[in-house]
Amino acid sequence: MESTELKEGSHPGINTRVIHHGESFAKTTGTVMPPIFQSSTFRQGNEEGFDYTRSGNPNFRILESVLASLEDCKYSTVFGSGVSAITAIASSLKSGDLVLCEENLYGCTVRLFEKVFSKFGLRTKWLDFSNPSCFDEIKKLSPAMIWLESPTNPLLKVLDLKTICTKAKENQIPVVVDNTFSTAILQKPLDLGASLSLTSTTKYINGHSDALGGAVCTQDSYWHEQMRFAQKALGLQASPFDCWLITRGVKTLPLRLQRQVSNATSLANQLAKNEYVQWISYPFRSDHPQYEIAKKQMAAGGAIITIRLKANLDQTYAFCERLKYFTMAESLGGVESLVCHPATMTHASVSSQTKEKLGISESLVRFSIGCEDVLDLDQDLKQSLEKLK
Ligand SMILES: Cc1ncc(COP(=O)(O)O)c(C=O)c1O
Repeated sequence: MESTELKEGSHPGINTRVIHHGESFAKTTGTVMPPIFQSSTFRQGNEEGFDYTRSGNPNFRILESVLASLEDCKYSTVFGSGVSAITAIASSLKSGDLVLCEENLYGCTVRLFEKVFSKFGLRTKWLDFSNPSCFDEIKKLSPAMIWLESPTNPLLKVLDLKTICTKAKENQIPVVVDNTFSTAILQKPLDLGASLSLTSTTKYINGHSDALGGAVCTQDSYWHEQMRFAQKALGLQASPFDCWLITRGVKTLPLRLQRQVSNATSLANQLAKNEYVQWISYPFRSDHPQYEIAKKQMAAGGAIITIRLKANLDQTYAFCERLKYFTMAESLGGVESLVCHPATMTHASVSSQTKEKLGISESLVRFSIGCEDVLDLDQDLKQSLEKLK
């Protein structure tokens, strides 16, 4: 987490930047909150250069300025969802291009590559990027792009982003990092050498499970132009209302995350001691296989915990359904805690063979830890674990 120490004249801190965005549009009214520009089109020749909402809207611009500030980068482009942001990046590639992907990505990213983009001739190769021996493949295969997620969904593998990006840069290969689980508060992929940092703003950035959005941040004007083009040409744009909600939500991101990380840290330690938990993954626990890398590249371990229970499918499902404060639902990153059964929910579209190879088993459970009182969450987990007896 960013230091709260007062330094006179320094760049405003992260808490200030998420609250005071760079755009106003309200000079004459003095409104504190930006209005919603619920207009599909704009009079030609207006001062701000707006044209048609598919290619830009004041609410997009406000959110983009906050997100660029959060990532400490020059450019940000917002989209209608995280999946739209993924589509926007993939649309910059051409038939025959090879994408080297981390083998454990969000299920719908896998589905997009395997069931949609493959029809347009995009090729993929899936590697375990947590194993440095695969780094040689970067030079050998010379892909058009490398696609990473760290921590990964749902296993929370941590990838050495700096080393991978350095190897990619030596071979002029752009690296995309899906930073949804960390947000720029905990990890800055662009500083570690990535060309593009992608986020589903549906999750932590908004934080209230009431809007969908995605964003791509970059320092590179070439990529910025590609993203702007995809936003309007592919119809991947966000809605002004959702951008307005996300702009409101992001104001409390540092506060929410602080609480969520603190809750997750203590719950991970409690779960690790429980007799019904066979395996636990939390990046800032010393038993995590990439603990040292996590400590180097992340400011904190995040608020997702993944465990494997000593249970079969029915027992695992019953465990999830018994929880009182963890709603069994897709998604993550909101103020409310959620529980997910990846094998049948977020990764249902991934082949059983791949799930088995990766370890997305029937007894795997992913928690998104919210802002509730940690004691209530702890007791809730314990009561449901106890019934596995
Ligand atoms: C890591 C990751 N990336 C991208 C997405 C897609 O985001 P959205 O649901 O906003 O399309 C998700 C959704 O869960 C995700 O977990």
